[in-house]
Amino acid sequence: MGAIVFEKEDGILWARLNRPEALNAINEEVVEGLEKLVAKVREEKDIRVVVIIGTGKAFCAGADIKMFLRSDTFAAREIIERLGKALEAFEDLDVPVIAAINGFALGGGCEMAMACDIVIASEKASFGQPEINIGIIPGAGGTQRLARLIGWKRAMELCLTGDRISAGEAERLGLVNKVVKDEELENEVRNLAKKIAEKSPYAVMLVKQAVNRGFKMGLKDGIAYERDLFALSFSSEDAREGMTAFVEKRKAEFRKTR
Ligand code: CAA
Repeated sequence: MGAIVFEKEDGILWARLNRPEALNAINEEVVEGLEKLVAKVREEKDIRVVVIIGTGKAFCAGADIKMFLRSDTFAAREIIERLGKALEAFEDLDVPVIAAINGFALGGGCEMAMACDIVIASEKASFGQPEINIGIIPGAGGTQRLARLIGWKRAMELCLTGDRISAGEAERLGLVNKVVKDEELENEVRNLAKKIAEKSPYAVMLVKQAVNRGFKMGLKDGIAYERDLFALSFSSEDAREGMTAFVEKRKAEFRKTR
């Protein structure tokens, strides 16, 4: 069994980080698993939503510190670059990636959560960028995505102190979409994934592009980009079907695959 276990269910790809004995810390096998996840979604067109979740008491406790202890500057750079690129690729996938945060999401685990499109957390989850405590700094977006998500000063404080915050605090800061009871996490995420999987895959892809790419632009360029994607959305059969179904007062029958 790999460091990430994949399971497909009704168009939803569940990717379970599977190193519970090391709190799902990111070693080379986990990075390979993330690269495999990206390749799988690109190839298998019936995948409509991805869910990433951890096994055991952690979502992911960050990069494997034992691996880092054996790494020199070059090795550390190589592994962090592969991790960073895999996380960046999430943003460009045609399908949404939901992070289901079942426990600790620290360092690279917090960075992984931030690279996902939607973050649902168990009340037991906690978040943080504790790299400073071991004499290094975040390397897979921790100083960058965090500042953009929760604000410059708050990101600075979290990265400088290495403090952990609760799921509730993370929700208040905008790092988490919703906090749910621990025993309800998987069902909540499944229902959310199913709801998105019922939409037009083409419209879902365009929303992802508009939000993720537009977020990196100035407002004027972002709105112009959105307008172009809006016009492009009219080229799909799903757009005809969706609007016709509305007028005919019936449920739309959208494409099931991409
Ligand atoms: N790397 C390697 N092993 C880890 C690990 C990590 N990041 N986090 C936990 N583990 C291992 C522990 O060593 C322990 O293994 P052993 O039983 O073999 O000793 C096992 O997982 C269970 O961990 P704990 O006994 O520590 O569990 P706990 O409940 O007492 O504490 C914790 C949980 C607070 C998360 C604590 O494990 C911890 O602080 N972990 C490290 C978190 C961290 O510093 N992450 C940042 C890593 S650097 C990074 O991520 C850089 C980047 O930008 C990618």
